Amino acid sequence: MIPVCTPFLGRKEKEYVMDCLRTSWISSSGKYLNNFESAFSAYCGVQYGIATTNGTTALHLALTVLGVKEDDEVIMPTFTIASTAFAAIYCGAKPVFVDSQPDTWNIDPEKIEAKITKRTKVIMPVHIYGHPCEMDKIMPIARKYNLNVIEDAAEAHGAEFQGKKVGGIGQVGCFSFYGNKIITCGEGGMVVTNNKKWADRCRRLKNLSFLQSKRFWHLELGFNHRMTNMQAALGLAQFEQIEKLVERRRKNARVYNSLLGGILGITLPVERPNTKSIYWMYAILIEKEFGMTREHLMRKLSEKGIETRTFFIPMHQQPVLKQRGLVDRERFPVAEKISREGLYLPSGSGLKKSEIEYICDSIRKIRKIES
Ligand SMILES: Cc1ncc(COP(=O)(O)O)c(C=O)c1O
Repeated sequence: MIPVCTPFLGRKEKEYVMDCLRTSWISSSGKYLNNFESAFSAYCGVQYGIATTNGTTALHLALTVLGVKEDDEVIMPTFTIASTAFAAIYCGAKPVFVDSQPDTWNIDPEKIEAKITKRTKVIMPVHIYGHPCEMDKIMPIARKYNLNVIEDAAEAHGAEFQGKKVGGIGQVGCFSFYGNKIITCGEGGMVVTNNKKWADRCRRLKNLSFLQSKRFWHLELGFNHRMTNMQAALGLAQFEQIEKLVERRRKNARVYNSLLGGILGITLPVERPNTKSIYWMYAILIEKEFGMTREHLMRKLSEKGIETRTFFIPMHQQPVLKQRGLVDRERFPVAEKISREGLYLPSGSGLKKSEIEYICDSIRKIRKIES
C-alpha cells in the first residue's frame, strides 16, 4: 500500500533521541527543548516559542492566555479539524463558524465581519492543507474590532503569505508536530508569539501554574501541556531538514499537478499569487463530471494499493456540537461541497516520483474503465 503519509526520519533523529536516553534528559526540560523552541520560533519570524504536548493543547493554551473564557466567542472556519473548535469549547467559549473560499478551502474573509458580536474575542484562521489564509484581509478586520488573531498553522509549517511565514502574522501562531506533519515529534505542538507577557504565561500555564517564587503554590488553574526533551530532540533533528521537507512536498504537488491537469471532473489545489503553499496534503475534489463518486474512486484506488483520505467533515455538522447547542440550522454551502467531494492522495515527504506516476496513471485508468 502507498500510504497517505509516513514520517521522514533520518540518522540525526536517532542520534538526538539516543543522546537524551544516554544523558537521562528524558523529561520536560533540557537543551533540545530550548533549542527546538528557539529555532522553530525564529524560523516563523517571532521571538518566543512554547513547546506543548500537541497542536490541540497549543490552541488551548493560546486561547487561555488571550483570556478567552465562558460565553466568549471565537470565529473560525467550519471546515477544519475538531481541535480548532474543541480548544474554544475547553475554554467555555462558543466556536462561531464561517464558510470557506471555493478555491483555497480556507476561511472566507468576506464572511467574517457578519459574525462579529460584542462577545467575539479572537479570530482563528486555519491554513488548510498548508495553503495560507488571506491574512491581509483578516488582520485589518481584527484591528477594526480590537480582536486578536490566533493562526492555526498546524498544517502549514513554512508556508508564506506575502513573504511572511504563517504562524508569525497573527498575535499568536499554533503548530502541530503529529506524525504526518511537515516536521514531527511523534506528538507535539508549539505556540509562537512576539508577546513576552503571553509567552511567560504560556510557560507557567503549561506547567500546572507552579509559581517560581514559591514551590507548590498555585495562583491560577494550570495544565500539564509539557513536551518532553525526547520529543523535542526528534523535533529539532526534523527541523534541521525543514527546507528539504517543504521542498519535497512542493515537488510532489508539481508532479501531481502536471499529471492530473486537464482531467475533467478533478479540481486541483490552487496556489494563489503572493502565497507559498507547502501542500501538507495533496488534496483534490472529485466533481460530477468525473463520472463516479469520490467513494467509488477511493475504493478502486485502494484495490490498487493506494491509500487516500476524505476531507474534514465541517464542524457545524458534528453531533457533539449539535448536542451542546453550539450550532443552529445555518448552512455553509462551500464547506459542505468540498467536504463531500474532497480527498487527499499520498503526500508524504518520502513519496517517490514513480509512485506519483503510478497513482495518476491509476486514476486515469479507473476513470476510463469505470465512468
Ligand atoms: C488544522 C489543525 N489544527 C489542529 C490540529 C491538532 O494537532 P494535534 O493533532 O497535534 O493535536 C491539527 C492536527 O492534525 C490540525 O490539522
